[in-house]
Amino acid sequence: MYVCMCHAVTEAQVKQKIDEGANTPRQIAQGCKAGTDCGSCVRRIQALLGEHGARPCPTARLAERLGLADPAAATAAVTAPQAA
Ligand code: FES
Repeated sequence: MYVCMCHAVTEAQVKQKIDEGANTPRQIAQGCKAGTDCGSCVRRIQALLGEHGARPCPTARLAERLGLADPAAATAAVTAPQAA
């Protein structure tokens, strides 16, 4: 199945890039150019990155480190009474 119609890049090619260590859409685009024309495939590429265990983006890693990745935990931290 094609992921990027502009450059005829298949899902298998994107998965191969992920297996080779790609963690971002930009890294996927290197070589195959997926996502570099109309951009309509970038969200699908991002989903494939997430589905296949690619390392999360720096913002997601920061949110996780700060405990903001889980909305329920973040809400609990904000609403919990402060110990004096
Ligand atoms: S469908 Fe991928 S850049 Fe257009």
